[in-house]
Amino acid sequence: MSDFVGRPAPQTGTHCKPKQYDALYRQSVEDPDGFWLEQARRLDWYKQPTVGGSWSFDPVDIKWYTDGSLNLCHNAVDRHLADRADQVALIFEPDDPASAGRSLTYSELHGEVIGMANALKAMGVGKGDRVTIYMPMVIEGVLSMLACARIGAIHSVVFGGFSPEALAGRITDCQSRYVITADTGLRGSKVVPLKANVDAALALDGVDVDGVLVVRHTGAAINMLEGRDHWFDDLKSDVDCPCEPMAAEDPLFILYTSGSTGQPKGVLHTTGGYGVWTATTFNYVFDYQPGEVFWCTADIGWVTGHSYIVYGPLINGATGVVFEGVPNYPDHGRFWDIVDKHQVNILYTAPTAIRALMREGDDFVTSRDRSSLRLLGSVGEPINPEAWRWYFEVVGDKRCPIVDTWWQTETGGVMITTLPSAHDMKPGSAGKPFFGIQPQLVDNEGAVLDGAIEGNLCITHSWPGQARSVYGDHDRFDQTYFSTYRGKYFTGDGCRRDGDQYYWITGRVDDVINVSGHRMGTAEVESALVLHDKVAESAVVGYPHDIKGQGIYCYVTLNAGEEHSEQLFAELRAHVRKEIGPIASPDHIQFTDGLPKTRSGKIMRRILRKIAENDYGALGDTSTLADPSLVDRLIEGRQNR
Ligand code: PRX
Repeated sequence: MSDFVGRPAPQTGTHCKPKQYDALYRQSVEDPDGFWLEQARRLDWYKQPTVGGSWSFDPVDIKWYTDGSLNLCHNAVDRHLADRADQVALIFEPDDPASAGRSLTYSELHGEVIGMANALKAMGVGKGDRVTIYMPMVIEGVLSMLACARIGAIHSVVFGGFSPEALAGRITDCQSRYVITADTGLRGSKVVPLKANVDAALALDGVDVDGVLVVRHTGAAINMLEGRDHWFDDLKSDVDCPCEPMAAEDPLFILYTSGSTGQPKGVLHTTGGYGVWTATTFNYVFDYQPGEVFWCTADIGWVTGHSYIVYGPLINGATGVVFEGVPNYPDHGRFWDIVDKHQVNILYTAPTAIRALMREGDDFVTSRDRSSLRLLGSVGEPINPEAWRWYFEVVGDKRCPIVDTWWQTETGGVMITTLPSAHDMKPGSAGKPFFGIQPQLVDNEGAVLDGAIEGNLCITHSWPGQARSVYGDHDRFDQTYFSTYRGKYFTGDGCRRDGDQYYWITGRVDDVINVSGHRMGTAEVESALVLHDKVAESAVVGYPHDIKGQGIYCYVTLNAGEEHSEQLFAELRAHVRKEIGPIASPDHIQFTDGLPKTRSGKIMRRILRKIAENDYGALGDTSTLADPSLVDRLIEGRQNR
């Protein structure tokens, strides 16, 4: 067991001791309904549920707490007024450290959420309406989500780094009639023209909404369209706005995420199960103690921000940090400045940020105090042991346990992790299943693999935080997650289980890549490329990248008569950024006269992956290719040398 790292003595770990984990885990899988009905008591319900799970994976129909009713804004805000009205709920740290930040107590948060909810109502938003939120990382982003939950509207947050085209696709897919945005946002002193992007999205054919609510953030000049666009300041009001009682299975939000085929899917989460799941996981995984400051560096545009900036911490009455900026502005010590300034106790960030900061040397870290830190978390992609050790030894001074949390947009919250006071850690391993989670490894034919072995990661039983559907397309939900291995939820990840029953996520086994912790479908980048009028065909694969985890490698064939050039490379990169956003920028584009296909016309991606990985010694059998000589030309023209 040489890969165990000595467990640091937990300073405040009161939540789960090793034996308690074993007992609770057993209980959670032997009597899931009893266990999850008990956990549901963490929340305030208008009607306490008496039914646990009502679910089937074949046919796919997932429900929890069907006879319960509640409101998550009430749980995140109003119910704390009784005993923590004056406790800080959210601390805002602006992009520029010299600008004024602010903090909101639970009582102030209550007032502001009501202001936002009233503004939404004034625009005509009602229960069940979809509201697209396209915001910078500011308090009003959180308010927008909570205000939707308060009045029963379904939020669909779109990451502020997505382009107008991508935003428009997400507005039309869920027939959202309302958008909340800000004038502009700031990231590392760069201006993000959010309102102008909304205008551009709404100018595209077939995209139309009834109202746009605009938060004044930077004060930049923007266009306002009479009748459609409204300043938040003009519509907000403090008249009473009670929380709408919601059935447990009423939708809470839609969040678009990438898969191996087609355009992003609107993953649908509902109210009761998601609330219980985020509240329970936040409490155990971060071992949160009253009064501690919790900082999740994600953006609310991703599920991590939903579950661990907004719902999990606030339902638990925590104090959280909302950071507008980036880790390297004004310098690479910004994270640690923020830790010291706000006395952060728990830091939850992504391996890509850890690797980028590690590269800059230890001085940026060691020159800051960091003694407030108690626990560190990692999420979004596998963390390589080298980055893990740096995080543990340099950032956490070997004092702070690390929780490496594996989960997905579809899982709602953490699924596999060590618990800080219950388990020893192994660098690079997420650890043990959370309560109620029953992982299973299967081979490509679906045969169950036992013991210490590697396979495809499935989950055999439902859990309250599980996504319920793909918005407007339940068949796609079934097809994507439950058809590969009938009767099981297939995660799309490969995974190894060791002799200690620890799980090691090896990465995606489908055509999804993970670039800086952002999930991207290779099919999306391919569709964007072929929209360019010079491109005939494209195939996109991931390759290992030192900082980003994976980089984007594109193979492109051009239409007859077109010539490749440096300029065309730049043009295609710009084109993909325009269609999707900067996070999808290709790292390499290899122009080729053909793509390796079988005689039946199927692209052999395995070969393209190997060449992009610079591992063309092991290409395997290429004899079934329609044109075997193409492989030599592809190797000759490879870009990632
Ligand atoms: O491949 C896994 C990887 O991120 C995918 C989920 O991405 P997304 O839905 O965007 O959610 C990210 C944040 C929860 C997974 O299928 N992933 C996430 N966390 C880890 C991880 N891979 C390894 N270790 C992790 N801790």
